[in-house]
Amino acid sequence: MGDVTINGAKNAAVAILPAALLVDGISEIENLPYIDDVMKLKRAMEDLGAVVNVEDKHTLKIDGSTIYDYKAINEYVGNIRASYYLIGALLGRFKKAEVAMPGGCNFGVRPIDQHIKGFEALGATVKVENGMIKAYADKLVGNKIYLDVVSVGATINVMLAAVLAEGTTIIENAAKEPHVVDVANYLNMMGANVKGAGTDVIRIKGVEKLTGGKYSTIPDQIEAGTYMIAAAITAGDVCVRNIIPEHMYSVSLKMMEMGITIEEGDDYIRVIAPEKLKCANVKTLPHPGFPTDLQPQMATLLSVAEGTSTMIESVWDNRFQYVDELKKTGAKIKVEGRMAVIEGVKELSGAKVAATDLRAGAALVLAALRAKGETVIGNVKYIDRGYESIEEKLTALGAEIERR
Ligand code: EPU
Repeated sequence: MGDVTINGAKNAAVAILPAALLVDGISEIENLPYIDDVMKLKRAMEDLGAVVNVEDKHTLKIDGSTIYDYKAINEYVGNIRASYYLIGALLGRFKKAEVAMPGGCNFGVRPIDQHIKGFEALGATVKVENGMIKAYADKLVGNKIYLDVVSVGATINVMLAAVLAEGTTIIENAAKEPHVVDVANYLNMMGANVKGAGTDVIRIKGVEKLTGGKYSTIPDQIEAGTYMIAAAITAGDVCVRNIIPEHMYSVSLKMMEMGITIEEGDDYIRVIAPEKLKCANVKTLPHPGFPTDLQPQMATLLSVAEGTSTMIESVWDNRFQYVDELKKTGAKIKVEGRMAVIEGVKELSGAKVAATDLRAGAALVLAALRAKGETVIGNVKYIDRGYESIEEKLTALGAEIERR
């Protein structure tokens, strides 16, 4: 019960920071979440020669004019998925890039063939060897690129490589996620010419130089959704603040279908949940569909709804790894390929569990909030990758949670 304030979007921040490498001047970026992935990227940028000043916990001032290196090869670079954005940014800036292969949360094969296809279409030669991605070009020239799958990463990466290219690049079948729009807005604020972000065709007219400026990252749609579900799973009444309610439509509408009251303001959503929830069928889809990054959390909520629900994961091929852990709390879930069939139970009970990835970790925290007795969650390092101050925020809402 109470209010919770949402931080800046992780998946926007981890793209905007590499984008700052394209700027031959100073970018001041506000509303960055204070999370591990952001700190690792800050370090990677410093290693490339950028001067990064911490203005406050959520604001970095990055001087991109001092960057001299195009090789991001340190071990920690490979630990974050978003390090792939360093390739697009460095390729755009220097026409060459060498970056350690991206790691990040492990849920099945995470190919980057569409990123590579985009870079090649702009004129680069790309090689993957010895755990490194190497991209070189004499010059980058705009082209028309059709993405075979709707990919957030490929859309943003091609955009990064194209903003300083000669001529116009058109990305067809582009991802429409709010953070794609946010990166485009950031680039435009710095002097780029990107049009159509948020639709499935993005047009990028190359400019000579990006000069710098000030930008504020959008709020985190997934963190917001996680706290909305926290309210719902505890029959609570929570106001989730500092968000863009339009980004939450797919989640809000599904929650309303389950009998939860959603009140929307300009920059907040209040969630008022009854004791009994109705079952629902959910399918993850690229934006504006239900986000895959809320799939484990939503499945946890459905596991205490009355009746049988289904959850279809259509973005990732292996994102039900958390189910075995969740079942330890008493949830009844059967996974059949890309579908989970969820039999609602009345109660969950405390258990010893371990996070298998970031959102799986969040789902286990949600289960623990609902469970009778104590739940001990291992591998919380995953949760720290994407949720700032989760214990403090949940404690303020009335949860008993501590880090040991
Ligand atoms: N795909 C390809 N080829 C590619 C790229 C993607 O086949 O070259 C496929 C993927 O295998 C997947 C689908 O396309 O099946 C979508 O992948 P996408 O590229 O959109 O994912 P991503 O950019 O690697 C980002 C987020 C993920 C989020 C997805 C989908 C970041 C750093 N990561 O990943 O976030 O699940 O978009 O919305 O932005 C998370 O925050 O927990 C997280 C995993």
